[in-house]
Amino acid sequence: MQRTPFLDLPPLACAGGSVALPGSKSISNRVLLLAALSHGTTQVRSLLDSDDTRVMLDALRQLGCGVDERGGGLVRITGLGGAQPRSPARLFLGNAGTAMRPLTAALALLGGEYELSGIARMHERPIGDLVDALRQLGCQVAYLGNEGYPPLRIAHGGGRPALQLDAPIRVRGDVSSQFLTALLMALPLTADTQDIVIEVAGELISKPYIHITLELLARFGIAVQREGWRRFTIPAGSRYHSPGEIHVEADASSASYFIALGAIAAGAKGQNGLNIEGVGLDSIQGDIRFIEAARAMGAQITGSANSLQVQRGTWPLRAISLDCNHIPDAAMTLAVMALYAEGTTELTNIASWRVKETDRITAMATELRKLGATVDEGADYLRITPPASPAEWRAASIHTYDDHRMAMCFALAAFNPARLPVRIEDPGCVAKTYPDYFHALFAVTKAASADIPVICIDGPTASGKGTLAAAVAARLGYRLLDSGALYRLTALAASQAGIAIDPANEAALAQLAASLPVRFQAECVLLAGADVTDTIRQETIGMQASAVSRLPAVRQALVALQHGFRQLPGLVADGRDMGTVIFPAANLKVYLTASAQCRAERRHKQLISKGISTTIDSLRADLEARDASDMQRSTAPLKPAQDALLLDSSGLTVDQTVAQVLDWWQARRPFSA
Ligand code: DC
Repeated sequence: MQRTPFLDLPPLACAGGSVALPGSKSISNRVLLLAALSHGTTQVRSLLDSDDTRVMLDALRQLGCGVDERGGGLVRITGLGGAQPRSPARLFLGNAGTAMRPLTAALALLGGEYELSGIARMHERPIGDLVDALRQLGCQVAYLGNEGYPPLRIAHGGGRPALQLDAPIRVRGDVSSQFLTALLMALPLTADTQDIVIEVAGELISKPYIHITLELLARFGIAVQREGWRRFTIPAGSRYHSPGEIHVEADASSASYFIALGAIAAGAKGQNGLNIEGVGLDSIQGDIRFIEAARAMGAQITGSANSLQVQRGTWPLRAISLDCNHIPDAAMTLAVMALYAEGTTELTNIASWRVKETDRITAMATELRKLGATVDEGADYLRITPPASPAEWRAASIHTYDDHRMAMCFALAAFNPARLPVRIEDPGCVAKTYPDYFHALFAVTKAASADIPVICIDGPTASGKGTLAAAVAARLGYRLLDSGALYRLTALAASQAGIAIDPANEAALAQLAASLPVRFQAECVLLAGADVTDTIRQETIGMQASAVSRLPAVRQALVALQHGFRQLPGLVADGRDMGTVIFPAANLKVYLTASAQCRAERRHKQLISKGISTTIDSLRADLEARDASDMQRSTAPLKPAQDALLLDSSGLTVDQTVAQVLDWWQARRPFSA
């Protein structure tokens, strides 16, 4: 779904259940390095799986740490303890600042020969202030490309360099807090006999991230003393100790979308609000204070150390006026919550929004207005007044500016009281921090079934409807129902069970169809756990499927299974009776045809490419026999629905048919850009 140009969210009705959030990137990479520097083995749970953590794990392996990936976010790291890292080593660190900066500091202090590089963008990200601080200490660090930027070479053969640790180590704090974090994580390696003092020059930015560093250091046995945000002392005798096991908190900014969801959505039947797993009241992340703001707007939030439970409380929400300096990222979620508040919500002290992934103040104002809100935008504030009544809401296509947070928070507009769908452009931009966001959202939200769009693509065998349906579903990020597969599976199950496909066995065959042990998994079809993806595509099974599909009781038995495919965010269904019988109220019905000759030729090409030898004539005869059977049967015969649009694909490429169907679909959507 993620690389689709847009994702349409149907109006959402309620939310409930449990969501497990992905681990925080900042915490994941800090924990990995601290575990690598410690004595003993650390069991790391809920590690984020992302590009940035992957390069860190690879680097640690190269340096001689034990890295045992157990799957499901569980990794065991056996630290170096006092040992020297393996050297020489060339470390490729992608675009992970959270790996480049701390590894540079740690390796420079430990000595050895290393080259650290990354992708082109990494070589444009400054590291000069950190290198200056390390050189001041006596470390040997050289630039291999541009002065002040990676790639770097660390060259100190023969063990640890002699370090000058008597004077305070000075580092700038106003470019990136990662320089200070890097020193705070590396210098405990050298604090055997004397206190080590770090002084920050300039105003320290991103203090919440330094807070995270200090909290994690404490869990690994290093109690840094802090005087304001200017002076940090690592006490003499500090030594890294593995805590044995550590749990990576989920990303608190990601939690904000689900906290807001719990506050906005009515509870699903039989469920008590929304349960958020992975981050809780003991979080060390600054954005966890979003909870206070959400409560002020009316959310009911309870929690434990590592989870949160959220329910709708005050409704409509209360408008608030809030200085958001302490939660700049999560505050974007408040701007969308403001759509559901009574009155005008004012978010102030958000000037930093202007220099993030995009100018978030202007972006937010522009997109909120598209939905019908009144927005007053200032240099460092936003005032948001929701649409006055449901009639004032608009179905909007939300531009996301390559900003993951725009995409994630605007999804919440799908709870609008006008029950309008919301289009999110470039939904794949969420991959920056939460690749699975929309799946997670759909797993805990519900829409009225009638609001979930269905596109039907019916037609005779080998008309290309399977290919067309799959392509349309992929483009829209919708689910796919290949209903022919269900008849094929029934035929296969019958042959496995030794039941002949004969009207005399109709009841037994229907019973079989009603309880097919089928699972659709990515591109595979499993029957009773066995992969039958290729088996059911065989021509003989196709003929048997056609025979079994003539039995009304079998067709009836498969109805519920087919309706079950109508799930968020939408469905493309292909078959013979999708538009006529199964989804008679579908939003778009396409009847795809092609001449018998053309279909026989296509099928021939397909089979030949699989190494199956056959002739066009025999295939054409089979096709025509199957068409006749499908069209003449008494129940749900193959025919276009009255309101279907006819598409003859004989002279068209697959891309042309896909484009035609998408055009028809666009024309039926309510969005104004
Ligand atoms: O589309 P297909 O070739 O995989 O379908 C196999 C058989 O199943 C087809 O000959 C007719 C039957 N079928 C049906 O009756 N109704 C559907 N919706 C889909 C398929």
